[in-house]
Amino acid sequence: MAFPAGFGWGAATSAYQVEGGWDADGKGPCVWDTFTHQGGERVFKNQTGDVACGSYTLWEEDLKCIKQLGLTHYRFSLSWSRLLPDGTTGFINQKGIDYYNKIIDDLLANGVRPIVTLYHFDLPQALEDQGGWLSEAIIESFDKYARFCFSTFGDRVKQWITINEPNIFAVMAYEFGVFPPGVSNVGTKAYQAAHNLIKAHARSWHSYDSLFRKEQKGMVSLSIFAGWAEPADPYSASDQEAVKRAMAFQLDFFAKPIFIDGDYPEVVKSQVALMSKKQGYSSSRLPEFTEEEKRMIKGTADFFAVQYYTTRLVKNQENRKGELGLLQDVEVEVFPDPSWISLSWVCVVPWGIRKLLKYIKDTYNNPVIYITENGFPQGDPTSFDDTQRWEYFRQTFQELFKAIQLDKVNLQVYCAWSLLDNFEWNRGYSSRFGLFHVDFEDPARPRVPYTSAKEYAKIIRNNGLEG
Ligand code: NOJ
Repeated sequence: MAFPAGFGWGAATSAYQVEGGWDADGKGPCVWDTFTHQGGERVFKNQTGDVACGSYTLWEEDLKCIKQLGLTHYRFSLSWSRLLPDGTTGFINQKGIDYYNKIIDDLLANGVRPIVTLYHFDLPQALEDQGGWLSEAIIESFDKYARFCFSTFGDRVKQWITINEPNIFAVMAYEFGVFPPGVSNVGTKAYQAAHNLIKAHARSWHSYDSLFRKEQKGMVSLSIFAGWAEPADPYSASDQEAVKRAMAFQLDFFAKPIFIDGDYPEVVKSQVALMSKKQGYSSSRLPEFTEEEKRMIKGTADFFAVQYYTTRLVKNQENRKGELGLLQDVEVEVFPDPSWISLSWVCVVPWGIRKLLKYIKDTYNNPVIYITENGFPQGDPTSFDDTQRWEYFRQTFQELFKAIQLDKVNLQVYCAWSLLDNFEWNRGYSSRFGLFHVDFEDPARPRVPYTSAKEYAKIIRNNGLEG
């Protein structure tokens, strides 16, 4: 099962989850520093990313892992407040630039292409204090930060992700309140944040397009989380409608404005309007884009970046609030099929990735697709031999192969989440997604390959599966 020549095999991490060095060398605090330092059991055992995998000082160790795998791509994120401690270009932290320059240069020297995320949940605290993603001012701040990154690193970085999982972020931060700023609000806030996230992405894409593209010749997109949804009862028309709503509230909410026409899906608009009316609001809680904004947002991605972890059965259910990255008004119940193997919130459903890719191909005009994350978590392992987890990866690759060969999906890059076991947000270190084990008790933070890492290296070497 050979993949197309030149297929990209990557692994991903993000700054707050691996770097540590939370206040080292002039880094400013980000919202996760504040959130974790406040305690209150919002994170498993009040763990923090203060040290995490120590990648700020142990980059060379990460590079060894990357080389051992033979990756063609490495996706990592820049810590905004390491580069710009108060979030603005008023003060630039040279030590932060040096750190990322070294990573980028070392990757390129080893034939590995960097895929760089600008924003992976870690807003500078100084900007949060000014209203964060609820304030329109964030659009300008993000655009300036993006321009700074394009001009500083864009001579070498050719693949950019502006924002990681805006859909998960909006829900976790402004509906469930489990990510900073910890707002539990079933009302307008998640929509307000989502609205600003879309506009910030679009603005920075335009900056790239008008100021940097000609010289740098790179590509810019955003990474959207997308679980696949199957009707709980395939013969039920209302469950089929529920599936459409689930995909719309999760994926199309962000993808349709950006890839198609600058506006939210009709089903989202009508559903939020309906729910708002039921709740006594005088108008829809979903903000509207102006015609000028629609023109600004439309067509602002150069490839489709998606992160798949799991599939759920979906049932129509009135007055049911969103779950798993679904915005609140969706009115569906989501649950796994009892026959699926469950690893925490990830149900192992490799075929879901193929269906999702086909959906993206059909809905978004056959775009170039990058899977910027996919993976399986485990608890504290008793051995480095995770043969069972590898079996899930292997089945996933079989499905990707079918998607490319049979469905003619234009998939060009796959990134496993994650290179390393790391700080899994509110789950702390209890949920391990790494290809390499990290011992968080040991100050040296040794990295040891799981069986999955050794097997993934073989896949990369063969550019596909054997047999
Ligand atoms: C997606 C997020 O981008 C990443 O930060 C997280 O660790 C993985 N999902 C696993 O939950």
